[in-house]
Amino acid sequence: VPTIYDVARRAQVSAATVSRVLNGSNSVDPALAHRVNAAVAELGYRRNEMARNLRRRQSSLWAMIISDVTNPFFTSMVRGVEDVASSAGYSVVLCNSDEHAEKESSYIAAAMAEQMAGVLISPSSNRIDGVSLLMEAKCPVVVIDRELQGFHGDTVLVDNEEGAHKATEHLVAQGYERIACITGPRWLSTALGRLRGYQHALAADKRPLDDALVRHSDFRERGGYDAMASLLDGGALPDAVFVTNNLMTVGALECLADRGLAVPRDIGIVGFDDIPWAHLVRPTLTTVVQPTYEIGMTGAQLLLRRIEDVNTEPRRILLSTELRCRDSSTRP
Ligand code: RIB
Repeated sequence: VPTIYDVARRAQVSAATVSRVLNGSNSVDPALAHRVNAAVAELGYRRNEMARNLRRRQSSLWAMIISDVTNPFFTSMVRGVEDVASSAGYSVVLCNSDEHAEKESSYIAAAMAEQMAGVLISPSSNRIDGVSLLMEAKCPVVVIDRELQGFHGDTVLVDNEEGAHKATEHLVAQGYERIACITGPRWLSTALGRLRGYQHALAADKRPLDDALVRHSDFRERGGYDAMASLLDGGALPDAVFVTNNLMTVGALECLADRGLAVPRDIGIVGFDDIPWAHLVRPTLTTVVQPTYEIGMTGAQLLLRRIEDVNTEPRRILLSTELRCRDSSTRP
């Protein structure tokens, strides 16, 4: 079995240089790195990951803690993380917190016990204690999608407020009069940011804000259904609804179908998060599209950077959304 020394001999470099190339360091001269990679391929050299982990007292695993494995938003985000991770020699372990803070804490504890090389987390609560534990243990961590109050580390978010503003502004421009909003839990930054964007867009059009047109739910399909039912049964019947995530949009549409209401004739709908089949359903669905793959990729790149240097300056990256106008919000 070829060793790192065989590779070093063949490439005419030191074993330390081989190690630096295999660890993805960019401080190696490209010509030397090329020789090392060629020698690795010619000799069929494979690193002994277990021995390497024992030496570093750290595994080559990343924990990716997401809040809902059934939500397609996370599928594409995880793919972005995985692509960056695997090209840098890391494997990703998927942990589903199911929007439960306790489950999330136990995954954080597992990541620390297994000495994982890093953690990416889309938090299910605004509790910072778990993430603080990781930071105290010098475990590289990146927060993605949802902001954690009091966390001064690497974060990747989208401009939720701007996305919601564009969605509501579009409904206003279509001539809808009573625009409602179904948003997520009060403790999640995404739910609050999207609600703020909706409110600011109405205020910009000098419309009064009416709490009777707002519902907080759980970012789940059933929650969207119930919130829509409650709007329809409440005093202020809306003629359009901005729903702040994909699964709740599905639930809201189911409710409208059960009540025999037509979209967009009776009620216009704009959802947040694109759904792969948004352009296939009838009417096609207007959505605010998040750059899900890019969120994952950017988060993973920040994690790599932090693994290289645990003391590097934290970065907060804000990505943009795009409003994709389709038929569900286009007034006949
Ligand atoms: O449940 C997923 C939703 O919550 C997405 O909209 C995502 O942005 C998250 O915050």
